[in-house]
Amino acid sequence: MSHVLAAVAWPYANGPRHIGHVSGFGVPSDVFSRYMRMSGHDVLMVSGTDEHGTPIQVQADADGVTPRELADRYNRVIVEDLHGLGLSYDLFTRTTTRNHYAVVQDVFAGLHANGYIVAKTTLGAISPSTGRTLPDRYIEGTCPICRYESARGDQCDNCGNQLDPEQLIDPKSRINGETPKFVETEHFFLDLPAFAEALGKWLDTREGWRPNVLKFSRNLLDDLQPRAITRDLEWGVPIPLDDWRDRNDKRIYVWFDAVIGYLSASIEWARRSGDPEAWRKWWTPGGDSRGYYFMGKDNIVFHSVIWPSLLLGYSGEGDKGGNPGSLGALDLPTEVVSSEYLTMEGRKFSSSRKVVIYVRDFLERYDADALRYFIAAAGPESNDTDFTWSEFVRRNNDELVAGWGNLVNRSISMAAKNFGVIPEAGELTDDDRALLDVARTGFATVGDLIGKHRQKAAIGEAMRVVAEANKYLSEQAPWKLKDEASKPRMGTILHVVLQVVSDANTLLTPFLPHSAQQVHELLGGTGVHASMPSIVDVDDLDGGPGYPVLTGDYTVGARWESVPLVAGTALAAPKPVFRKLDPSVVEEELERLGS
Ligand code: MF3
Ligand code: ZN
Repeated sequence: MSHVLAAVAWPYANGPRHIGHVSGFGVPSDVFSRYMRMSGHDVLMVSGTDEHGTPIQVQADADGVTPRELADRYNRVIVEDLHGLGLSYDLFTRTTTRNHYAVVQDVFAGLHANGYIVAKTTLGAISPSTGRTLPDRYIEGTCPICRYESARGDQCDNCGNQLDPEQLIDPKSRINGETPKFVETEHFFLDLPAFAEALGKWLDTREGWRPNVLKFSRNLLDDLQPRAITRDLEWGVPIPLDDWRDRNDKRIYVWFDAVIGYLSASIEWARRSGDPEAWRKWWTPGGDSRGYYFMGKDNIVFHSVIWPSLLLGYSGEGDKGGNPGSLGALDLPTEVVSSEYLTMEGRKFSSSRKVVIYVRDFLERYDADALRYFIAAAGPESNDTDFTWSEFVRRNNDELVAGWGNLVNRSISMAAKNFGVIPEAGELTDDDRALLDVARTGFATVGDLIGKHRQKAAIGEAMRVVAEANKYLSEQAPWKLKDEASKPRMGTILHVVLQVVSDANTLLTPFLPHSAQQVHELLGGTGVHASMPSIVDVDDLDGGPGYPVLTGDYTVGARWESVPLVAGTALAAPKPVFRKLDPSVVEEELERLGS
């Protein structure tokens, strides 16, 4: 047993999230956390909404509300959506809490004290017509590195390099097309080159990362430049230094504050748990803790370079040395688990072009587990992947309904009808034992694959157990054994297959927690099998406005093991667990998409 931190990327609160977002960070991190808990680890799964920065400011301006009002609105929407998906966060909070502000400022101050944050005068972009600062990502131009024509002022989406807006060739404002004016302004920079050596050593000792993620991260070390970590903006965490703290035109850069969320959310969780120091079990170097960070690939640099640099600098472990800050030395990530992109019917998700389906709309029409199944079985785990409605319907109908649902249904109905209880098993044949074995060995195989973030293969193995059980049932044909003399054999077959249904259900629990609870109950089980998160309205711990969080008690529920069924347990005729979708769904949904 060990302490496992599941650090899940923080969704921006500038709008509702679509299924592409949750397929990257949401479902995979939940599958992993549920499995880890089931196998006895002490998991802390944290995240929250990412509420600062220019995207929020710009959207708020467009909507005629304050950034805080916008963040409040979408924080709640996102909390409800993640709840609907059954994502088992220990704490899903937000970046506008007082606790978060305090932790961010402490980390900033610690890095500054150790000499890793330096002030510099730079060029900032101003809109000539309004006189206001033009945020980096609202400047567009040609990438100086790869010549891509729609590179943004902060990053090129084509080659993935981070940019400064004045490096762009022929820069233009994305808001009104005018050419920005660059003026001198003072900002703080993180001395990334001072971490190159320590980062290199750390990356050299990483094991089990997806090869492309490790390679990408290593390449980033070849050209580390000091990076601006403050912005000309009113909306954000104030800079905790004298002469800066009270200025309202400069704020800490949103990415600097967001990654610190993993730490601040752990601390908030501990403070709410009644043991304010409990977070240390997941953060102290040299202990038994491991930290897994889940995100889409556009977030890699922030998790494999910037966040580790902040942790190193705060702990006093860059080229300039230093002392740990007031929280003590902090542990670096064990693994950066990054997924690729999901596209929608062959196109990039785009809210403005309506090439999108929001989580909320999806869950109004379909079950959470149907989406979770699709993401696990066909999501963008290590390749860009396309979501199509026809493939969604096909997988739902052919695999979930006709494979797993059908096995559950026919085995439990047959037992309920002929025995009313889970029948006794008599002497077992080789075939019986072989099937039981397939299910039992599934725990090692499926578990190992989930632990290695190979969830596609893992759910494939779990579904193989289902397929074997369906085959066994067809071959043994217990429905032909109704006469008095054969009935004990019928009982044995059904006992065996129900045991395998129970085992397969446990194997599928991390992926399909809602239906796993139902199947558990259909088998006569009581109590919690797969625990679910709840939405709780809490007070800010330090006197700020209250907010909703996602949290839960996940210490109860099934373990990652085969639990022998008890003959004689009462069974009722089952109601179907999964819904078959009419093929007309495909056309309906395609009509909703913009073209
Ligand atoms: N809000 C970012 C995004 O949606 C992710 C932030 S992850 C964190 O791409 F590490 F900064 F929290
Ligand atoms: Zn480029």
